[in-house]
Amino acid sequence: MDYKKKIAELIKEHMDMDVKLIENLIEIPPRPEMGDFAFPCFQFSKTLRKAPNMIAAELKDKLNAEGFEKIDNLGPYVNFFADKAIFTKNAIEKILEEGDNYGSSNVGEGKTVCVEHSSPNIAKPFHVGHLFSTSVGNSLYRLFKKEGYTVEGINHLGDWGTQFGKLISAYKRWGNEKALEENAIDELLRIYVKFHDEAENDPSLVDEGRAYFKALEDGDKEAEALWERFRNLSLKEFDRVYNIFNVEFDSYAGEAFYNDKMGVVVNELKEKKLLVESNGAQVVMLDEYNMPPCIVLKGDGASIYATRDLAAAMYRKKKYDFYKCVYVVGSPQALHFKQVFKVLELAGHEWAKDCVHVGFGLVKFADRKLSTRKGEIILLDDLVRESVDKTLEVINEKNPELENKEDVAKKIGVGALVFTYLKNSREKDIIFDWKEMLSFEGETGPYVQYSYARAKSILRRAEESNIEADFSKLNSKEEFELVKHLENFNNQIHVAVEKLEPSILTRYVIEVAKAFNKFYNAHSVLNLEDEGLKQARLELVKASCQVIKNGLYLLGIDVVEKM
Ligand code: ARG
Repeated sequence: MDYKKKIAELIKEHMDMDVKLIENLIEIPPRPEMGDFAFPCFQFSKTLRKAPNMIAAELKDKLNAEGFEKIDNLGPYVNFFADKAIFTKNAIEKILEEGDNYGSSNVGEGKTVCVEHSSPNIAKPFHVGHLFSTSVGNSLYRLFKKEGYTVEGINHLGDWGTQFGKLISAYKRWGNEKALEENAIDELLRIYVKFHDEAENDPSLVDEGRAYFKALEDGDKEAEALWERFRNLSLKEFDRVYNIFNVEFDSYAGEAFYNDKMGVVVNELKEKKLLVESNGAQVVMLDEYNMPPCIVLKGDGASIYATRDLAAAMYRKKKYDFYKCVYVVGSPQALHFKQVFKVLELAGHEWAKDCVHVGFGLVKFADRKLSTRKGEIILLDDLVRESVDKTLEVINEKNPELENKEDVAKKIGVGALVFTYLKNSREKDIIFDWKEMLSFEGETGPYVQYSYARAKSILRRAEESNIEADFSKLNSKEEFELVKHLENFNNQIHVAVEKLEPSILTRYVIEVAKAFNKFYNAHSVLNLEDEGLKQARLELVKASCQVIKNGLYLLGIDVVEKM
């Protein structure tokens, strides 16, 4: 039974308001003594000319309390106490019946959402910032799918720009074929750095790079072939990373994809009289909106980053007819997106309002400076390796007999990284602190995965039985708190989607794990005489596993059966 709906229908009999609206007002109170659901009466005080407390008190008396333990009022709230036995039975049965689908809904049916994320740059290393985008984006991708949206995961690769002219020049001068095959990104980075070093003494190199880029733009076969090769090799490397993190894309249409799609955009802006000349460049003035001008064409007539984003937005609208187009890109680019969306709006595209920049903070490290063998950038491989190695150390210490140790360490180590990215609201900077994030206690990925494995081990030890579970016996505080959390999954998914904030779900999964451990520490499951109670507790353990698994999946994290 859907309690919220039932409550909304009850209230509807006495309030002149749409059931859906009533349902949206219903809250889950923070403390058990406030009931399981609460209906706030503030907003009616104006029309009813009564104090909210009065409205709540009167409403409470009118409601039919059948199916509830009681209905009460605390100040301006009507508080509903569910009949625990019915609530518990319904919740657990629903979870076990729906299994991996538990939490799904059809909220987004018929709507398409584009989730652009990751978007690394070709020939450059994939760094910790790109992993932030990828973690948030992958989770949003899965969350939207869970709510029934059609989702397009887009990787807007940085695969165009003057740097490719330099790379071609550098490759022809110093490129090492074998090194390129072995580790493309290392080799491309090496020759790119060398190009800049050499150019300091020999400025003619810069002209050479420029000439190669021009050749590339003009469709020169050799330049094109090299560009494509660099792109393919880089993609191969990125795909290796995406495999580690369980990420898939539906489109790799990067910046270069829009090369032949920008002319139309520029013409449209011209026709709509939005383009003006400024210092030789073609720009859209935005000072009315307190923003610097959006440059569309540079002095030499070349397009830039923003031009590609304008073309990309138009293309996506046409191709996917999106309900929302979400850009998961670091907060330093907030202004860029504000400008692009404003230009779209000024060009008369009312759907510009459906484009949303989902920003995120910076990544810092607690126990070392931001310097690794590649200078300023922390390489992803180093990060993954360190996390997995350290996890393996912990496993060797705690459970040296474990089978498939390497595989388990990989899942936990990678999960711990993703969990750290998604734990706090995304706008916050995050600090990687190995000791903290790899701990099996506290609010960490390993803690949640450990709770799951612990629950699984209980289930493995339980003997088959055909005695029916008696859910009315799950009447302790710990049991009911756990059930309430489990039942709240859909609601939390919805909030996470509305706020475009995976951390809502991360926090939720932590709460479920905590509630599970509280329950398990207070009550025995296997050593019980009462078979009805024992079965009920086992089903509760099973349901907890299912919810943790589904929740972690939405974050992009795998569970392990033993650890
Ligand atoms: N490639 C860019 C970078 O690494 C991110 C691209 C963001 N997406 C966009 N549509 N501009 O910073």
